[in-house]
Amino acid sequence: MGIEETLVLIKPDGVQRGLIGEIISRFERKGLRIKALKMILFTREKAEEFYSVHRGKPFFESLIKFITSAPVVAMVLEGDSAISVVRRMIGPTDGREAPPGTIRGDYSLSIQENVVHASDSLESARREISVVFSRGEIIDW
Ligand code: CMP
Repeated sequence: MGIEETLVLIKPDGVQRGLIGEIISRFERKGLRIKALKMILFTREKAEEFYSVHRGKPFFESLIKFITSAPVVAMVLEGDSAISVVRRMIGPTDGREAPPGTIRGDYSLSIQENVVHASDSLESARREISVVFSRGEIIDW
C-alpha cells in the first residue's frame, strides 16, 4: 500500500494493432501518473534480462522471439497501490480467460500475445524499471 511505481509494457501485438492510445488512456483515466514513457525495440540481450525469471520455461524462446519482433511502448506509472491496481486492470495472463473489462479480456485471445505486461510485485517493479529506464528518464511531477 501507499504510493508505488510500476512498469508497464504495451507489447508488439498491442503496438501493431494500434492499441497504444487506448491502453494509455485507460491508465490515465484511472488516475495513474505517467512518470516515464518511450518506444523501444528490445534487443535479444535486454529481452532475456527483462524476462530472466522465465528462463528455462518451455515458452521462453517463443516469448523472446515475440517480444523482440516489433517495438514495445514502456512506461512507469505511479499511484496509490499502483502495482496491484494495474495488475487488476490488465487481467490474468491468458487472454481467453481474462474477464471482459480488463485490457487482456477486451483485446486478447492468447496466452503469449496478451497485449500488455505489468510488474507483479514491488521487487519486480524495481528490477523491471531499472532494466528499461535510467533514473534520469523518470520525471517526478
Ligand atoms: P507477461 O505478463 O509479460 O509475463 C511473461 C509472459 O510470457 C506472459 O505475459 C506471456 O506473454 C508469456 N507466457 C506466459 N505463459 C505462457 C505460456 N504458457 N505460453 C506462452 N507464453 C506464455
